[in-house]
Amino acid sequence: MVALSRLTPDPAQASPRLAGYPFTLGVASGDPWPDGVVLWTRLATAPLADDGLGGMPGKDVPVRWVVAEDDSMRRVVRRGSVLATPELAHSVHVEVKGLRPGREYWYRFSAGGEQSPIGRTRTAPDPSAAVPFTLAFASCQQWVDGFYTAYRHMASQDLDVIFHLGDYIYEGAYGPTGGARNTPLSAAHNARLFTLAQYRLRYSLTKSDPDLQAAHRSAPWIVTPDDHEIINDWADESVPGISPENVLRMRAAGFRAYYENLPLRPSSMPQGPDMQIFRRLRYGRLASFFVLDGRQYRSAQNFARRFDADRSMLGTGQERWLLDGLGRSRTTWNMLANQVEMYQQNRFTADGGIEQFHPDIWDGYEAARRRLFGGIRQRRVANPVVITGDAHWSAAADLKADFNDQGSPTIGVEFMGTSISSGGNGVDMTEGGRLQLRANPHLKFVNNLRGYVACRVAANTWETDYNVISKVTDQSGVMSVRRRFVVEAGRPGLQDTEA
Ligand SMILES: [Fe+2]
Repeated sequence: MVALSRLTPDPAQASPRLAGYPFTLGVASGDPWPDGVVLWTRLATAPLADDGLGGMPGKDVPVRWVVAEDDSMRRVVRRGSVLATPELAHSVHVEVKGLRPGREYWYRFSAGGEQSPIGRTRTAPDPSAAVPFTLAFASCQQWVDGFYTAYRHMASQDLDVIFHLGDYIYEGAYGPTGGARNTPLSAAHNARLFTLAQYRLRYSLTKSDPDLQAAHRSAPWIVTPDDHEIINDWADESVPGISPENVLRMRAAGFRAYYENLPLRPSSMPQGPDMQIFRRLRYGRLASFFVLDGRQYRSAQNFARRFDADRSMLGTGQERWLLDGLGRSRTTWNMLANQVEMYQQNRFTADGGIEQFHPDIWDGYEAARRRLFGGIRQRRVANPVVITGDAHWSAAADLKADFNDQGSPTIGVEFMGTSISSGGNGVDMTEGGRLQLRANPHLKFVNNLRGYVACRVAANTWETDYNVISKVTDQSGVMSVRRRFVVEAGRPGLQDTEA
């Protein structure tokens, strides 16, 4: 058995000689708890080396880390060292403990005689403290589709915590000119991802982006993957046209590379094709974050069987964990970090009727959605807020106890964020968007530009801003707040701030 993580290296161990600056993929922090965060970096002197190993030697490299109370790193409060191993592509995931709740810290790594950039992070508030906070969420950052200007903007916003809801990478082949990036890429990028080396290289390419690195440096991230970290529309072991054996191989490679490249706690380290992704984070007295895994345990797509009680989006264990946790929660807000659209997505039939059609979203798992909504009502869960990625457009919806009866109670709200870059430049509104609004009375807003979503969470209100960007195919995109919604605690449903 290979030890993947050795946390107590011999401090006297000499570093093997590195071929260049090792912090080309940046630094990050994640999963904030009241007493600590996880710090991440991955050493790569040649990040785009075709073998996915980032130009690193096949040897352990000692990495030192330091956490300070100030951004000039003078008032150091924690320090330590860790070994970056070839088995984990020279990534490190340091769980720092003993920090104070609800405050900023700064951190830095050093290795091979070089220092990393300084990152800023923030611990979660004390569980008894009703401290207002800000969060942002993003998803879907197909590298070849455009620049990450939205992340540059996000990095400037002094946020408390950032969520990523999936499609951090995409698995498709990237051609020799790099799409909208117009950057030469070697032939190693030009295949659909299958091997660990290929997944690693795709992360290296994505993470080389300076705006993405800036967003990671600016605040702790809480991340969950969707489908493209492995392959489009996967469900458990099922992908049409691919053997379950090969799906499991892709899961093992994709999960491994995901873990290696994101600030996850070591408790999320994958074991072969399995990875512990769903988790709950308490954020003061105001919020609980339920981070969902909507892929690993879901039933295979079968739209004809969407009402069957034995089919599930989350799997039996996660579904029970979620409802138990929601039932016990005493926080003001209960946020679900969710992968795919939870609101019912109607479209018009040729004769003007209404139908659902999308097998990959919660519509394809109707019985599971009814169990979840029924469980939320039964437990009188306070102020559910669902945040979602996936669709590459923005949407805001009331979640109805019965979407086919608009007079039924509203049980919560869903804010769906658009993509960072996937799909390329968007437009403000499409004919399809207008039809969607008409076919879905519970849907209050649709927008087809790229961007991200920012929220201000307080004891009485949850405010959500849809930040959209004019273009992503060059770096001149301009961000603006396209729409703002408010939710009042104790009064389910969206309130539009526009007259
Ligand atoms: Fe996507």
